[in-house]
Amino acid sequence: MIEHSCTRLRVEYLDTPIGLGEKAPRFSWQMESARPAIHQTGYELEVRDTATGELMWTTGQRSGAESVSIEYTGAPLLSNTVYGWRVRSWTNASQDASAWSDSHFETGMLQPSDWRAQWVTPTQTPTSTERWSMLDWIMGRQPGEPVTERLRPTQLLRQTFTLDGRVDRARLYASAHGVYEAQVNATPADDQVLAPGFDSYEHRTSVQCYDVTEFVHEGQNALAITLADGWWAGRIVLTGSSAQWGDTTSAIWQLEIDYADGRRSRVCSDESVLSAPGPHEYADLFIGERLDRRAIIDGWALPDFDAAGWNPVVELSDDTSSLTPFYGEPIRRLAELAPTLITTNANGEHLVDFGQVITGRVRLTMPQLQAGTVVTIEHTEVLSPDGSWFLNIDGINKEQTDVYVAGGLPDGETYEPRFTFHGFRYARISGLPVSPTTGDICAVVLGSDLRPTGSLSTSDDRLNKLHENAVWSQRGNFLSIPTDCPQRERAGWSGDIQVYAPAATNNAHVAAFLTRWLRNLRADQLEDGRVPIYSPRSPFDREQAESGQGLGGIVAAAGWSDAVVILPWVLYERYADRRVLEENYPAMLAWINFQTKTAAAELPPHLDAYTMTARQRTNHSLLYNTGEHFGDWLAPSTLNGKPLHEGIGIAPQLTGEIIAPIFQLRSLQLAARIARVLGRDAEADVFDARWKQTRGAFIDEYVGADGRLSSTLQGPTVLALAFDLIPADRRDATAAHLAQLIRDNGDRLDTGFVSVPYLLDVLHDTGYADLAARVLWQSEAPSWLYEVDHGATTMWESWDAVAADGTARAVSMNHHAFGCVDDWLFRRIAGIAPAAPGYREFLIEPDFSSGLTEVEASLESQYGAIEVAWSLADGTATLKVSVPPNSTALLRLPSATEVVLDSGFHSRSFDLDSAYAAVERTRA
Ligand code: BGC
Repeated sequence: MIEHSCTRLRVEYLDTPIGLGEKAPRFSWQMESARPAIHQTGYELEVRDTATGELMWTTGQRSGAESVSIEYTGAPLLSNTVYGWRVRSWTNASQDASAWSDSHFETGMLQPSDWRAQWVTPTQTPTSTERWSMLDWIMGRQPGEPVTERLRPTQLLRQTFTLDGRVDRARLYASAHGVYEAQVNATPADDQVLAPGFDSYEHRTSVQCYDVTEFVHEGQNALAITLADGWWAGRIVLTGSSAQWGDTTSAIWQLEIDYADGRRSRVCSDESVLSAPGPHEYADLFIGERLDRRAIIDGWALPDFDAAGWNPVVELSDDTSSLTPFYGEPIRRLAELAPTLITTNANGEHLVDFGQVITGRVRLTMPQLQAGTVVTIEHTEVLSPDGSWFLNIDGINKEQTDVYVAGGLPDGETYEPRFTFHGFRYARISGLPVSPTTGDICAVVLGSDLRPTGSLSTSDDRLNKLHENAVWSQRGNFLSIPTDCPQRERAGWSGDIQVYAPAATNNAHVAAFLTRWLRNLRADQLEDGRVPIYSPRSPFDREQAESGQGLGGIVAAAGWSDAVVILPWVLYERYADRRVLEENYPAMLAWINFQTKTAAAELPPHLDAYTMTARQRTNHSLLYNTGEHFGDWLAPSTLNGKPLHEGIGIAPQLTGEIIAPIFQLRSLQLAARIARVLGRDAEADVFDARWKQTRGAFIDEYVGADGRLSSTLQGPTVLALAFDLIPADRRDATAAHLAQLIRDNGDRLDTGFVSVPYLLDVLHDTGYADLAARVLWQSEAPSWLYEVDHGATTMWESWDAVAADGTARAVSMNHHAFGCVDDWLFRRIAGIAPAAPGYREFLIEPDFSSGLTEVEASLESQYGAIEVAWSLADGTATLKVSVPPNSTALLRLPSATEVVLDSGFHSRSFDLDSAYAAVERTRA
């Protein structure tokens, strides 16, 4: 009897992707079996062209346990083609193969030359080009007159076409410079929003593929696109400058038709397209949008609409070189939140609290209103302690306000913005004569539609809230690209995601999402190897950096640029994704070479080459320790009592020089490991040797004989311990010093952005588990639970973003970076940590001394669901673990006993006191 099956068949991490651009897609499956200790011993996989039945590839019967990311090596795949694939496997438990499991995927436009369509540019007034520098931003300069007066309407594009037969399959490929929504015969092509998403557009512009088979029909049809400024022309990132890629919007599409009788045809965007201004008076990602209901043109997307008076398109271009099939998951509406409180003030403004800081927008249903009634919706993340309105995001062009002008419809009307989003918890609605009721209004959560993969709950509500807050910040900042925050900047800061990525992998399947972002990052890498501090990086950003001073002139930075090495490593560790290592390897080398060259050429300005010893000179020629860096950004004590604008420069000054070689060494260390995985042993040896030499130089120059670092802040010491940069005989002293710094700070952390992810691990691993617990449970700021105690529903940018009396500062309430502790909760509290790529082997080592009595956590690995539940009662620990088929766990108990757990369910109880008695846990 066969006792297992192959399930969750996925191609490039997706269930049944269409429009896929990978020429050698990778296949994965999981195994299901009621029996324990199941391991795959072999498999067979076939890919066929569904239409012709032609066998494209078979692996034959292959022996081995591989079930993750098996790369296609069959005959070349064709564009826009449906492929069926099936897999069966053998296990250690039976001679028989499983039944075949079937799935399918479709390719998109694999070559730019597959495009016959042309970019079409509708008649439009170019958007006003507003250019603000970082300095303007810091100085809080404001434009003279309201920016809304300079915005321009959305554009409608339509094209009609005739189909002369029954259609079997229709795929619409589309993209835009701007953001767009497509309709076929007035039906939305899909439920995704803000397509094509944010990319480094000159190099890569993502193409969406929509299955529109159901929406086309024999006879006359219409294709319609609504186009808004989006990231291309609208106001974006830190400075809120506009037109960073272009001041006009355009679109391109190609509808591929397979008729039932076997004929194929296509409809391409071309000079037959007509355009007209849309009903949105403006739509901008930052500022918001204004829609006049009366300006909606009824039926404009239907085939028989009379488009007399519409404009021809003004420009056509056949440059399709940047078009790239979209990779990963699109942005969608992920959830709807009902309000928790609605109040109306004396001015008739309705204040709506959604109980949760989110990224998204409001959907409001209004009763019958007089036509022309103007309803305004403003957004903010936090209020003043007395409940009055407080805008926590200042800066240029960051209005976050939507305006709806009522059409006076007899049955009332519903409005949800379409081409903008906001970061908020509260909405203030004015102009609406009656208060909305709970059923009339909701907050629509937007984000990239990533598969949730993890859960964590403990006997402590505050810790649970901390976890939820991290998840919410992740959701809010994983929108097309990983952003720093969803209101003020929405920029793809490489440091932020470098810090948070491990935590992200527990909560959602982020491999495809981050792979796509890394493609943008690489596209933005400079010729000399510098990896930009954020990506996408516009042509305007490039100009800016050239003239920028200080922090404003930074192009690449330690701990930010190193994302190009660290992130692929995280994805490899968590998803066994070898290709992401391969793809990024040349970019890593280029960045490391830049560090090496800079080290050889430059000296920190406080050193004098003439008075240095020969050894110092050699040391500094190895150390990348010059240039402007963010250092251990936002280290709390450097910000104390200062407005953020002033304080932010201090950590860079104090720690920039030491953080740079620390991350240089981290990149070298990981590059050596990566080269080994890729079978490039000779290169790995070179990296190892360089690491050793540079580490020696670092120790000479920055680590005292007493084990103390030249910097007295906690962060560099944490990192030096985490990255093995302290000689073995000084480690204890270094760790003791760190522990002292923390105790002197009242058992509170003083780590900034780049060191905080390692703090608790370092304390744990150097014998200060008790101190790690005190830092975790600390409720005075700076601490994670201070935020929870003070009403946080997401992670804050600054630990004291809300003062003890409830006064909020003008900072972001939704920055995922400090949520990195969530990874520690999974790895050390629940105790699930990867031991071999993709959790093929994993460690179960819960921290029973954390002060909790119950913990439950789960995580969907590449092999299936890993589940851990533990509880403590009367000195007895009970531990339950589920190990997915085809993987194994190593259970490490407090007594230091190790037990291998095979796939299946395991339950154990043991006496905790005697387990702990077996080990020395803490130091005096
Ligand atoms: C962002 C950060 C980012 C930083 C660079 C800030 O304005 O919000 O999260 O990493 O700049 O230091």
